[in-house]
This record gives sequence, C-alpha cells and structure tokens, in this order.
Amino acid sequence: TDIRPIRSPRGAPVVGNTLQIPADGPVQYFAEVARRYPEGIFSMDIAGREQVFVYDPDLVAEVCDETRFGKFIRPPLSQIRDFTGAGLFTANDDEPVWGEAHRILMPAFSQRAMKSYFSQMLEIAQELGGKWQRADGRPVTVADDFTRLTLDTISLSGFGYRFNSFRSEELHPFLTAMQNALTEAMRRSQEVSLVTRLRHTDDRAYRESIATMRDLVDGVIKERRQGATSGERDLLSLMVEASDPVTGNRLDDGNIRDQTLTFLIAGHETTSGLLSFALYSLLRNPHVLAQAYAEVDRMLPGDSVPDYETITKLDVIPRILDETLRLWSPIPLISKVPLEDTVIGGRYPVKKGQKVNLLFRRLHVHPNAWERPDEFDIDRWLPENKAGHHPYAYFPFGTGARACIGRQFALTEARLALALLLQKFTFADHTDYRMDVKEALTFKPKDFTVRVRPRREHE
Ligand code: HEM
Repeated sequence: TDIRPIRSPRGAPVVGNTLQIPADGPVQYFAEVARRYPEGIFSMDIAGREQVFVYDPDLVAEVCDETRFGKFIRPPLSQIRDFTGAGLFTANDDEPVWGEAHRILMPAFSQRAMKSYFSQMLEIAQELGGKWQRADGRPVTVADDFTRLTLDTISLSGFGYRFNSFRSEELHPFLTAMQNALTEAMRRSQEVSLVTRLRHTDDRAYRESIATMRDLVDGVIKERRQGATSGERDLLSLMVEASDPVTGNRLDDGNIRDQTLTFLIAGHETTSGLLSFALYSLLRNPHVLAQAYAEVDRMLPGDSVPDYETITKLDVIPRILDETLRLWSPIPLISKVPLEDTVIGGRYPVKKGQKVNLLFRRLHVHPNAWERPDEFDIDRWLPENKAGHHPYAYFPFGTGARACIGRQFALTEARLALALLLQKFTFADHTDYRMDVKEALTFKPKDFTVRVRPRREHE
C-alpha cells in the first residue's frame, strides 16, 4: 500500500500551528497555505486538535460519501451552540431532534412555500429600492443594506416579524449582538479553553450578546403565541403546531427558540454576502452587467412589478449568482467527520472523529476542475457547459442530508432583489474598490460602497 502522512506546515512545540492563524481571517489564511500543497490536502494542529483541509475535487468526493463521513459538531460550530443549541445548523447527525425538525420544517421550503413568501420578499426589496432612490447619488454601504434586506425578509416571511431595518440609520441591535457573539465564538475555537476562562470581561460581553439575541427571539415567539398570524403556514407556525410525521413528536419550547435564532442568523447572513459579492462582480465585469440589464429590460420593462413567475424565468441573473457563489462563496468552508478510521485517495489516513474541512475557497477554483478558474464567466452555467463540470468541485450550499434547507429561499430572494435593483438603478464604483474580505464565520466585502442613481432620469 501507499499510505503516507498528510503534509502540514511546521508548527511550534505544544501550540502547533495555533499562533500562526490570524484571528481576523483564518479561512483566508488556510486558503493561502493550501497553495503550498498542490496535492489538494494538508493538515494543521489547531488548539490541540489535528485538522485536515481538503480541496482536490476527487478527494472531496470521498469526503462527501455519507456512508463514511458525517456532520458532527466541532469548533467553531460547537461554540456557536452556546446560542443556537441543537438548531438545524449546529445539531449532530445523531441527535434525534435534527431529523424531527428537518421533517417538520421541510414543507416551509417547498416550491409552493416560495410562491407564498414572494409578496413579502417583494415588499422588503421595494423598501431597499426606496432607500436607494432617496440616496440619490450618495454612496450606500452595500453589505449593510443587503443585510437589512435579508434580515427583514427572513423574519417577515418565516416568522411574521418586522425588524423595520430600513426605517433606521443604525443597524438593528440584534445584528451587533450577533456579530459580537460570532466573533467571540470564532476566537474561542482557536484558543485553548484555559485562555478563554481567563478573559472574564469578554465572557460577560458574550453572555450579554447571547441574552440580547434570545430576548428578541422570545419576543418574536410571544407575538405569535398572542395570535398575530400571517395566515400562511410559515416556519414559526409549523414549529409551534406541527408534529414530526415519523416520531409524532413536537418541538419543545427550548428547541423552537434555538431554531428561530438559527433561522434568523443562517437565513440572512449568507444571502446578504451573496448579493454584495454579486454587485461587486458585476461592477468588475461590465460585459456581464450589460447582459443583466438587457435581461431585466426584456423581462421587466419600464416600471413593471416583478411577479414570481417572471423571477423563475430569469436566466442571466441566476447564472450571475451561480458564478458569484463559485468565486465568493459566503460560506468558505464546511466540515465533515469520518465515522471510522479511514484512508482517502488510497493514501491519506484520517481518524474517526477528526475534523476534515472542505475548503471551498480552493475547491471552487481547482485547476483540475475549472478552466481559467479565476475568471468570472457566467457561461460556465449554461446547461450545455454545466453538464461537463466535475460533480464535486462546487457545492456552495453543502452536500447530502445536511445541505442547506434554505437554498431555494435564498435564490428566489436574491434573484428578485438583483432584478429589481437592476431595473431601477445604475451603480458607480466611486472608490475603485479592492476586495477586502471580512470574515465572521461567513465572508462579506468590507467597506464596499457604491453610488446608486435612478436609471430613468438618464434615459
Ligand atoms: C446549511 C449555505 C441561505 C438555512 C447550509 C450549509 C451551507 C449553506 C454550505 C451546510 C453547512 C454545513 O454543512 O455545515 C448557504 C448559502 C446561502 C444560504 C450560501 C445563501 C446564499 C440560507 C437561508 C436559510 C438557510 C436563506 C434559511 C431560510 C440553513 C440551515 C442549514 C443550512 C437551517 C442547516 C441545514 C441542516 O443541517 O439541516 N447553508 N445557505 N440558509 N442553511 Fe444555508
């Protein structure tokens, strides 16, 4: 046999590679390290644990085999459980509540459900349009406004709750609390627990952030219990009323709270990043932007209001989003764990329970799978070209049973928002922006501002 150890960057005694990892950009650092290991795999000793990073598409295919690998929560997701508990995102494969909640919530993500959320998605997208209209040529901070959009959309569609983010200059305190809690959780995942225990002040701030988020969630649930319903069966009504078709169990109050917070976070953070990176990519690629305007002018002439059917018929805009998710995947890495000791690629041994990270940031541009990998080319996503892709070189929404439940929701919302904004505005990259990624579990462009102007005035 041809067993060989997985190569790793040299570490220091005791702390291994821990101190090499920059706190403000760990995944970007892993992606840089990956350049030194063209075999598509390396390992690192982080906070006393040996972690593997994989980005060769054939090796990745093995790690996606659900008979050999599963999702078991390790840092940083184990820290995030401090506030999301056994919610869908942070539950272990073998926790029964994962399956129960998954089955209870599936109907809320059907095609029919998307159609029923559409009017609420439109309402919030129009609020964003209104804000940009009023900006009237002044710069807008892209990621902040897309965060307002996606937070208000998931909370209204999923929970009948209004954040009213567009009425306020400041971002909602929920978002500050969430950012602080995520940052602290990430930090904890990269240090030994003794150090965490010594940081008393940070710990107090962490607990306060969690309390702020939980208070908000309690308010959302209480409002519903007092009878405010949107009529449709949204996420919250399913969680409160439905039982699991398999076990007959209902979700308990603690889990409903964890799921609600999970959806308020997972349901907005990534879609906001996707839209921000999409706008960035369009400004960098004027020929693609021109195609997008042409599509919108054909499908949504004048001031026509988009309906659900029109959005499902778009072609250029969905391909812009597909390509954005390749080059700028808001979730830059996901993790799997071997169910038993095993060997990948016929040579690299990995141990039961060890964390194996799938590094999208390199996989999505791997030269074995992509021609001109760094080029933003939406024609990769034409049906005739798509068929030739490596099956495991792209999955920004994850794989298998634990793939994203909100994929259709995100894509419907993002297509609508982009279509509406392109129908109404022109954009100027007034700072000649250089991409500066901000990492806080997910990726977003930092301090990216554009000038937006209504299109009609210019015609
Ligand atoms: C899971 C990406 C939008 C809810 C995931 C995973 C990925 C992902 C990669 C798998 C994580 C893992 O394996 O550890 C994205 C991206 C989005 C997006 C790129 C937007 C562009 C959404 C939205 C919602 C959502 C809009 C809710 C409405 C969830 C949940 C899970 C999940 C609950 C956990 C699923 C489970 O394990 O059962 N997402 N997501 N996501 N996503 Fe999304």
